[in-house]
Amino acid sequence: MNKNITIAIDGPAGAGKSTVAKKIAEILSFEYIDTGAMYRALTFKVLNLGLDPKSVDDVIDTMKSTSIDFRNNHIYLDNVQIDREIRENIINQNVSYVAKIKEVREGMVKIQRELAKTKSVVMDGRDIATVVFPNADFKFFITASVEERANRRYKELIEKGEKDISYENIKKEIESRDKIDSTREIAPLVESKDAYRLDTTDKTIDECVEEIISIVSSGR
Ligand code: DC
Repeated sequence: MNKNITIAIDGPAGAGKSTVAKKIAEILSFEYIDTGAMYRALTFKVLNLGLDPKSVDDVIDTMKSTSIDFRNNHIYLDNVQIDREIRENIINQNVSYVAKIKEVREGMVKIQRELAKTKSVVMDGRDIATVVFPNADFKFFITASVEERANRRYKELIEKGEKDISYENIKKEIESRDKIDSTREIAPLVESKDAYRLDTTDKTIDECVEEIISIVSSGR
């Protein structure tokens, strides 16, 4: 059987989605598509042009002349690889404004569906099981407590050498991002009713990966 398989993974910021999704894709030899990276890439471009991410018209205009692409698990913005740049805290602070714009979401969803047409994918984001692939073969909702997510993000940024950060601020930023992501009008972050819920607060990455692989392998 040669059917392409789609695994949809949603959940809030810092729940461990991308780490888990990447490992699953590797084990299954599927392509990993990080949809958050796409919204981040556009945010990066808007900021780089000196524009305001809250200006809907400017963001839509920028999107019209932008190409976003994945090649060999790297993200390309206008044909330039920008994996590292999109992880900076300035992007964390602004990406939700860009991601709530209707026209931006429509454009991104179109690219995401194209990417899964010809291959099996593990795609992670906020609206993958609800909007992008409501008929995905497998749906997971990965979450963790806000404290644990803030803790992980804080450590990640410290390891990267970011200086002007505090745990309390990171926690506030995560709470604010959760709020914008889950209350926005279009494709808010919601737990799909038919998704398998995985709380990673007290679990290791490997335990989460094992749980998902066992579900996918047994075809449940
Ligand atoms: O997963 P992440 O932190 O890289 O996501 C960055 C932002 O993009 C996050 O604030 C929510 C948004 N996002 C979205 O709205 N829809 C997606 N499918 C993926 C991410």
